[in-house]
Amino acid sequence: MPTTPENTVFDIVLKSSGASFTIPATKSILDVLIEAGLDPMYDCMRGECGICRVTVLEGEVDHRDVILSNAERASNKVMQICVSRALTPRLVLDL
Ligand code: FES
Repeated sequence: MPTTPENTVFDIVLKSSGASFTIPATKSILDVLIEAGLDPMYDCMRGECGICRVTVLEGEVDHRDVILSNAERASNKVMQICVSRALTPRLVLDL
């Protein structure tokens, strides 16, 4: 599984509300959304089950899951928010 050596800080924007959140190096997108009181769907929190899949509208994903196919990863249109991060400073998600 390709990973970057270190986690970087990036921002996400939720399409539905326009809300933005900064994702620190020590937390996942899923962690931050839960802490913000949102109710994202999840189960394994390890990139294995596929439940937390989210559509990506803008930005480039650093895929760290083991559930997406190579074609899905290459499409840059979906991501698992429990483990995957961003290669760009900002991701816009269909949430
Ligand atoms: S919660 Fe299982 S893949 Fe994210």
